[in-house]
Amino acid sequence: MKIPVGVLGATGAVGQRFVQLLADHPWFDLAVVAASERSAGKRYGEACSWKLDVPMPAAAQALVVQPAEPGFRCDVVFSALDAAVAGPVEEAFAAAGYAVLSNARNHRMADDVPLLVPEVNPDHTALITAQRQRRGWRGFIATNPNCSTATLVLALAPLERRFGLEAVAVTTLQAISGAGYPGLPSLDILGNVIPFIAGEEEKIERETKKILGRLNGESVTPHPVIVSAQTTRVPVVDGHTASVFVTLGSHPDVEEVCEAFRTYRGVPQERGLPSAPAHPTLLVDQEDRPQPRLDVNLERGMASVVGRVRRCELMGYKFIVLGHNTIRGAAGAALLNAELLHSQGLLAR
Ligand SMILES: NC(=O)c1ccc[n+]([C@@H]2O[C@H](COP(=O)([O-])OP(=O)(O)OC[C@H]3O[C@@H](n4cnc5c(N)ncnc54)[C@H](OP(=O)(O)O)[C@@H]3O)[C@@H](O)[C@H]2O)c1
Repeated sequence: MKIPVGVLGATGAVGQRFVQLLADHPWFDLAVVAASERSAGKRYGEACSWKLDVPMPAAAQALVVQPAEPGFRCDVVFSALDAAVAGPVEEAFAAAGYAVLSNARNHRMADDVPLLVPEVNPDHTALITAQRQRRGWRGFIATNPNCSTATLVLALAPLERRFGLEAVAVTTLQAISGAGYPGLPSLDILGNVIPFIAGEEEKIERETKKILGRLNGESVTPHPVIVSAQTTRVPVVDGHTASVFVTLGSHPDVEEVCEAFRTYRGVPQERGLPSAPAHPTLLVDQEDRPQPRLDVNLERGMASVVGRVRRCELMGYKFIVLGHNTIRGAAGAALLNAELLHSQGLLAR
């Protein structure tokens, strides 16, 4: 029998992705959708302004949107809540015994909350035991990174593991869907680039170090890598691109770097988790790729698509990486986290 799950913030940009990805999930069954008081009490089909290019799943259309408070007929909830409200709502669910898989930034950097990329730091789920003890919760909160960090880290991990990683300079070109719905006014973004996304640079710099960091008893010692980020919003619908420069701990030739990307695999691939991409870092060879419009859905949106790997006079190596911000950067990431936790026997109460 499938595991019933709920989605908090089901009407938003990320919430809709959850609803889409859960529609034919082999392990999970969408039992509850929840959102704000504006939506609660309405049928999902009526409350949600559906923006995906696939039809709204019929089973979801008929669900009545619930208020975002404990009392669901399931034990697992995915959170796509607005960060302005996610903090206390997610804590209330965890205290009431739910496994909370969150996309929101609120708890990511807490010492006892795992910030997971299952191919990179699956051992960090051990923090859940400390979290439950410290907070007296029957449930727990586990998080996935910010959308740009998710894409970046999946491309850094193969290099860090094989060659060591000393410094990263990254500039992102982030899609409009990353700002949620309705997002930015069209007059601000059409034909334009906005060189500021509030809080995003700090998130990339801090979250990367935590994810690549070492589990140390009841907390994570951040990785010593230096990370410097600049973030921009560009008129792309889905898909965050990043221009990345790295200094490694050794001096491999470019082909060895490419081989590290090509061959990288993790626990999700070893265990055959349903949402795992076959190639978490997918290397494309053409000199003008990856491009968001052409490549964002490779590996069902679950890979970091890497291209243009070459030497850099300044830092050693440079490349371009692309990731789907609402799939690998959000809903798909939380689903993979839930699959990892289930495979580790940690999802049930
Ligand atoms: N978009 C991305 O690429 C992305 C990537 C990674 C992480 N995230 C994070 O994921 C979360 C959701 O982002 P989004 O882009 O999907 O935002 P969004 O489109 O603005 O959706 C926000 C959701 O939160 C609900 N909500 C708002 N206020 C609420 C309240 N007081 N009580 C209960 N529900 C409330 C909304 O319900 P109503 O429809 O009823 O208002 C809606 O379902 C955010 O924390 C964001 O930072 C987003």
